[in-house]
Amino acid sequence: MSEGVHRYQYAEKDHLRMVFFIFTAKPVTIADMSEKLSTDSYKGVRDFYPEDQYIQDYITAVMRDVVERFGYVEYNASVLEPTELYAAKTGEEIVEEQTYTFVDRGDRSVTLRPEMTPTVARMIAARKRELPFPLRWYSIPNLFRYERPQKGRLREHWQLNVDLFGIEGIFAELEVLTIAHAIMTSFGLTDEQFVIKINDRRLVNQYLRDAGLDENQIHRMQKLIDRKDKMDADAFRAESQAIAGDDFVYDPQPSDDVTMVLDVFNNAGITNIEFDPAIMRGFDYYTGIVFEIYDTSAENNRALFGGGRYDDLLAIFGEEKAPAVGFGMGDVTIRDVLETYNLLPDYVSPTDLYLVVAAPEHMIQIATLANELREQGLAVALGNPDKKVGDQIKHADKLAIPTVIVVGDQELANNTFTIKVLETGEESTVVREAIASFFTPNP
Ligand code: HAM
Repeated sequence: MSEGVHRYQYAEKDHLRMVFFIFTAKPVTIADMSEKLSTDSYKGVRDFYPEDQYIQDYITAVMRDVVERFGYVEYNASVLEPTELYAAKTGEEIVEEQTYTFVDRGDRSVTLRPEMTPTVARMIAARKRELPFPLRWYSIPNLFRYERPQKGRLREHWQLNVDLFGIEGIFAELEVLTIAHAIMTSFGLTDEQFVIKINDRRLVNQYLRDAGLDENQIHRMQKLIDRKDKMDADAFRAESQAIAGDDFVYDPQPSDDVTMVLDVFNNAGITNIEFDPAIMRGFDYYTGIVFEIYDTSAENNRALFGGGRYDDLLAIFGEEKAPAVGFGMGDVTIRDVLETYNLLPDYVSPTDLYLVVAAPEHMIQIATLANELREQGLAVALGNPDKKVGDQIKHADKLAIPTVIVVGDQELANNTFTIKVLETGEESTVVREAIASFFTPNP
């Protein structure tokens, strides 16, 4: 492209600073590029170097494995959505303060998805008549929220979304809560290390109505209750009395549905589940049971999961309602928790074998050997022929590749190779045809 990014213009709109790149005919000159670019990533998002990606893949593999065992199938969608998708039900705080929104070249307002629930509701509403309900769907999208980056909260995170559509009864809540519990234990966490807190929005609303509050007071109380766990008891009492009057005390008792969920889990021997009337959830679409999962150590005080029942969301697309229950589980918080409990796996390279080039003049033969082994299913990296044998071995070790073969004249002439396991120093000498079976002894 001969045209270059020449000049930036900033515009303030809806709390967001948008950057418009103006393309002009003037080519970029060396002088324009003289200032060094920062190597920092954009604030609050992460770069995944191979070791980080390894952990990320591990986390998502555990999630996938559990949800697929429960019969869930994967869907996906674009990170871009029309802004209006979030206007109805996502909740004021997220829409007004936390979305990344911009106007595209065709004057449409576009938002980087801050959550997946409106997207999945949109997809299901679009094909409601054809889809075979009940639907068990999952996805692991990256989401964007303009938050103040801090421990457990970033501007981009990946979030497992597990949603069950088409079941009205409490069986649906039981299933998704069972999945949430199974994910935690599959990561190696014990019941003492986390707690599932559940509440019921209907119960809270009834409690507030019975206390004589009007719609406006109820709405303000809901927002206050949502912040209850982050404030001290006196401040909560003072603020709630300012909204609801001096006699107001917030002390609802569990609903039948909550009691039923607690009983079923307790009967199955799972006791780290409790009623917590302060669990409200920030989104406006929840209609019944809501829940969050927390780590019990003081180090990580952010929710690991959040979810609940949202039976009315499809109605915003003009479709009939469809019962729905689901949750989101973020990658950032679970990673912190697994680190706290030392439950993250050590990095292992996906490469099985490193061929150390000890005879650079036979590079083509060595590359042919590598290809032969790849065809037999091994992942093989070649050493750098310009480096000494010792340096190539060190390189393999740094890359955490578990085994090396030093390939020199002798080895090629005799068709016999010594496989060295770097961690133990153990060596096995085998003929060329037996190299692959060394790695998969019992195919
Ligand atoms: P949420 O509570 O906003 O729910 O997010 C669910 C989980 O995603 C949180 O418990 C947390 O682990 C993680 N999370 C959220 N925001 C961030 C952030 N800025 N940085 C790191 N992690 C974060 C929802 O999004 C609902 N749509 C979930 C849902 C699915 N409800 C029904 N189905």
